[in-house]
Amino acid sequence: AESLGLSGKRVVITAGGTLEPLDPVRYLGNRSSGKQGIALALAAQQAGATVTLIAAHLEVALPSAALTVQRVETALELQAATELAADTADVVIMAAAVADFRPDHAEGSKIKKRDDSADPVITLVRNPDILAGLVSRRNARGARQLIVGFAAETGDERGDVLDYALAKLERKGCDLLVVNQVGQDGQGQEKVFGQDSNQVLILDRDGSAPVPAEGSKQAVARAVVERIVNKIDAFQ
Ligand code: C5P
Repeated sequence: AESLGLSGKRVVITAGGTLEPLDPVRYLGNRSSGKQGIALALAAQQAGATVTLIAAHLEVALPSAALTVQRVETALELQAATELAADTADVVIMAAAVADFRPDHAEGSKIKKRDDSADPVITLVRNPDILAGLVSRRNARGARQLIVGFAAETGDERGDVLDYALAKLERKGCDLLVVNQVGQDGQGQEKVFGQDSNQVLILDRDGSAPVPAEGSKQAVARAVVERIVNKIDAFQ
C-alpha cells in the first residue's frame, strides 16, 4: 500500500462546542458547528492516521466514514476523554470550542419562574484550559507528541491579530496554532461560525513564518494536516 504521511499515527481531534448545564433542560453553550474539526478528522484519516474524534455539541451530522467517535457534553467531560485518548496519541488537535466558564452547579430540577421569587443569579466558575493541560502532560511524560491549538482572534487598538495569536501560542505552549481571523459582516455578526469556508494562518512555535491557508474547511484541514506531516517527519 502507498505510504501516506500519517500512516501508523494515532490522531485525536476534538470538535464542536461544549454545553454546560444550568438545570436538566438548560445550558450555556459555545457556538461551533464542528465542521472544521470533522474536516480535520477526515483529512487525517485520508493521510493514513487512526483517528479518534471527540465530539461535543455539533450542528452538522457526523460523517459515515469509519471514524472512532466519542461523544461528550461538558468541558470537564471533554477534558477527561481527551486526556485519556491523548496519552497514546502522536498528534492532538484541539478544534473544539470549549466554554471558558461553567455554572458553579447544575440544579437538580428545572429552575422555575415564580412571580414571588427573585430572578435567579448564575455564578460561573472557570473551566480548565484543556489545551495548556495537554501540553503540560506531554512535557511531563517527555513524549514526542505534536499538539495543535485553534484560536479565533480579532485585532483591536492594542494589537493586531498576529500579535495576539503569537502571545497565545506562547501562553498555551502548543506546537502549532491555527488562527482564524474573526470577521464581521454588515450586522456585526461573527462570520466564521457555521460557514463552509475559512481563512487561517498556521503559526509554528519554532518561529518559522506563518503559513496562510484559505478556502473550504476541507482545504484548510488538508493544509493543517500537511503542516503536521512535515513536523512529524522532522521528529524522526
Ligand atoms: O484561549 P482560547 O479559547 O482562545 O484558546 C483556543 C484554543 O484552546 C482552542 O484550541 C481550544 O480548543 C482550546 N481551549 C481549551 N480549553 C479551554 C479553552 C480553550 O483547550 N478552556
